[in-house]
Amino acid sequence: MMRFQNKVFLITGSSGGLGKAIATRVLSEGGKVALNGRSESKASEVLGAFKEFGDRVIYIAADITSADDAERLVNKTVEHFGGLDVLINNAGMSAFGTLEQSSPAVIKEIIDSNLTGSLYVSHFAIPFIKKNKGSIEFISSLAAIHGLGNYSLYSSVKMAYIGAVQSLRKELQGDGVHVGAIYLGFTKNDATKKTLNANGGLEDVPVRAGLPVASQSESAGIVLDQIYKRKTFVVQSALGKTNFIVNRILPRIIHWVLSNQYRKMTKP
Ligand SMILES: NC(=O)c1ccc[n+]([C@@H]2O[C@H](COP(=O)([O-])OP(=O)(O)OC[C@H]3O[C@@H](n4cnc5c(N)ncnc54)[C@H](OP(=O)(O)O)[C@@H]3O)[C@@H](O)[C@H]2O)c1
Repeated sequence: MMRFQNKVFLITGSSGGLGKAIATRVLSEGGKVALNGRSESKASEVLGAFKEFGDRVIYIAADITSADDAERLVNKTVEHFGGLDVLINNAGMSAFGTLEQSSPAVIKEIIDSNLTGSLYVSHFAIPFIKKNKGSIEFISSLAAIHGLGNYSLYSSVKMAYIGAVQSLRKELQGDGVHVGAIYLGFTKNDATKKTLNANGGLEDVPVRAGLPVASQSESAGIVLDQIYKRKTFVVQSALGKTNFIVNRILPRIIHWVLSNQYRKMTKP
């Protein structure tokens, strides 16, 4: 079914990983996509994977932590495709380490790449999305249900998306705009994916042994179903849904489970 025929999507951070998988599905369902990543030199490599979709796909190098880049990203998308229907705020770095260990530069990078950048792009996109009664989607995480030890920066920014969605739903009521966030579950990472350590060094992402991990295509499908059905919040996976419900009713239980997990993780 061509659910997104001629709909224009801007997907931040879609040079790889989940963003690229979402783009692939949108294009196969008739949509048009502005891909994004920070590096100009990746353009031909990224676009190479989408040759079959011709001019329904473009790549715009822009660092969303810069307001100027965020504005240019939105404007170029609109100039090329003539409008914008769906913004997916997907870009963002992750980091591992306690807040005490994390350098100020890492704190800034995690907040800027996930939160400030998503708010910049949303700010510039809102007038166009209002025009088309489109969608703004935030890719949050199970780490936003209850703060995780060693992920204080990541849990903070992913929780902040939930506040943004709740506020935007008020601010855009009456404009016919859908605003949503997904508490994304564990999703297969690109082999090249990096995470920041507490000092700002880039490290390989540890393999999640023993945990159920969705494929990128499966997670992309859930995000797109949410957008198509204009749902506000979606929690992915049985583990996520259980956490979400128990945390609502008895947050102390989730605190206890996650505290034990953190202790095991940090045991010398
Ligand atoms: N994978 C999971 O299990 C999981 C679970 C929950 C939530 N999530 C969330 O899902 C989203 C995608 O995750 P992923 O695993 O696909 O991550 P990823 O492989 O690291 O991809 C991140 C993307 O963001 C781009 N990016 C980073 N900083 C940017 C910036 N300042 N401006 C523009 N683009 C930027 C990167 O492009 P360049 O490097 O080319 O610039 C890359 O395309 C993230 O928000 C993540 O937090 C992932």
